[in-house]
Amino acid sequence: MPHVINHPLAAHALTHLRDKTTAPVTFRTLCYQIGLLLALEATRDLPTTPKSIVTPLEAIDSPVLGQGIVVVPILRAGLGMLQPYTDLFPSVSVGYVGLERDHKTAVAQSYYCKIPPLEGRRVICVDPMLATGGSAAQALTVLREKGAQDLRLVTIVSAPEGIAAIEAQHPDVLIITAAIDRQLNEQSYIVPGLGDFGDRLYGT
Ligand code: PRP
Ligand code: URA
Repeated sequence: MPHVINHPLAAHALTHLRDKTTAPVTFRTLCYQIGLLLALEATRDLPTTPKSIVTPLEAIDSPVLGQGIVVVPILRAGLGMLQPYTDLFPSVSVGYVGLERDHKTAVAQSYYCKIPPLEGRRVICVDPMLATGGSAAQALTVLREKGAQDLRLVTIVSAPEGIAAIEAQHPDVLIITAAIDRQLNEQSYIVPGLGDFGDRLYGT
């Protein structure tokens, strides 16, 4: 089962993301805030290694991050979740997977892929909406083929159908999300959801 973050600030941000009157400028700020809370959750168990340092009072061994991370936003909407990682993690690498759903079939087509070396690093694929799961499943397959072993999927809203698809195709990938919604509608949009995330993020 996915890990659903439980934080009042995440709930608050998600309510305003869902609100159809929220303008893109506010939507982007809320996306950053909820993305930050999700990033902390996706990295909570990163290993650390001891570093010998000297405080003004004595020498100690103290932990520093022991594993690099690679964050991979699925274009375009995933870009809204990228900045918390580049703000927080000193040695983050960023990869990109460009996928777009066909409006009629909801099947995602790939149009771009640029992935840095993945071995030995935590790979965090970010995409706000997990609907049918087709886009995320394709992206995770690419990341696996490129050598990802420690792989996570971070979303803001997930549909039960998308979760089932990822669990079937990528059973070892932990999904971290802010909400599990009711279902998909006939157009494969998540309900209640928040609409088209990319359009609302970028005012299109
Ligand atoms: C949206 C969203 C996901 C995908 C989810 O992207 O950002 O990538 O749909 O749907 P799925 O689980 O059914 O594949 P979209 O294809 O609309 O492209 P965009 O991010 O460029 O708007
Ligand atoms: N993509 C979105 O942006 N929203 C949905 O509800 C489903 C897919």
